[in-house]
Amino acid sequence: MMKDYFLGVHQQELERLDRQHLAWQPETQQLIQDAQLANCERILDLGCGPGFTTFELAKQCPNAQVTALDKATLYQQYLQHQIQEQQASNITPLHADILDLPNKTQLYQGAFCRWVLAFLIADLPAVLKSIYDKLEPGGTFAAMEYLTLDSFTSSPPSDYFTAYTQAWKAYYLNHSGDANIGTYLPNLMREAGFTITSEKCVGGLSPVGHRWWFWWRDAFNNFAPTFVEQDLMTQAEFDGMAAYWDAQEAAGEGFIYSAVILQVVGRKEK
Ligand SMILES: C[S@@+](CC[C@H](N)C(=O)[O-])C[C@H]1O[C@@H](n2cnc3c(N)ncnc32)[C@H](O)[C@@H]1O
Repeated sequence: MMKDYFLGVHQQELERLDRQHLAWQPETQQLIQDAQLANCERILDLGCGPGFTTFELAKQCPNAQVTALDKATLYQQYLQHQIQEQQASNITPLHADILDLPNKTQLYQGAFCRWVLAFLIADLPAVLKSIYDKLEPGGTFAAMEYLTLDSFTSSPPSDYFTAYTQAWKAYYLNHSGDANIGTYLPNLMREAGFTITSEKCVGGLSPVGHRWWFWWRDAFNNFAPTFVEQDLMTQAEFDGMAAYWDAQEAAGEGFIYSAVILQVVGRKEK
């Protein structure tokens, strides 16, 4: 049986992924446009989760058949249900592990992934090579991954906020992931054969009430209890951070600067 990714596969995470999609929807839509995926007839959405990116692709690329690949059974079931509900005939679910891509025969003109490769660090060169191999000549691969969590900071400053960010970094590293993947992803894509056609960074200033403010607070609510259990944060840091969110929201003042997210597009030359 395939092992689930370490953020977890359950209803609470599914709902968080939905809210996360809304928090980053304009930037995701822009990436799909920048990569000109609407010109493709077949697109592979790698690590599609419950399918929020898949439906975005299907909407923006109405002439494409979108294959939605994920290894999580619950997310594939949810996606199947959504396909039926919305009569989305241009989406095909594919319950599979990305590591099995070399065994698949279908070729695509476009490939897309968001917040997936950071979970595949040990296999990254091989995964990028297999994505390259599954594209037709002239095909395009667009990825949206953390550049770094190190840009996260808050105003007014807070040691609790710093502790929370450090806990996230450690959580990735302890599970063989890496939230700084974006710093070396373009080079690995080049090594896999891609020509990089676009690199962009998104994220940044998020005043109280901004969609990225709520995104990061939401992640706190969902994951910080686990960080305390795993000794990545102390209970005092957790309590201090919970109070910080409340105090800033009550005052309606202050901001965070978010993680920087890399959007990179590579082409397989003809
Ligand atoms: C953070 S979620 C992102 C989901 C979606 N891309 C989005 O942006 O909403 C990461 C997803 O990658 C999937 N995943 C991680 N490793 C995988 C692998 N080796 N094969 C297939 N899916 C994988 C997980 O099951 C999970 O659904």
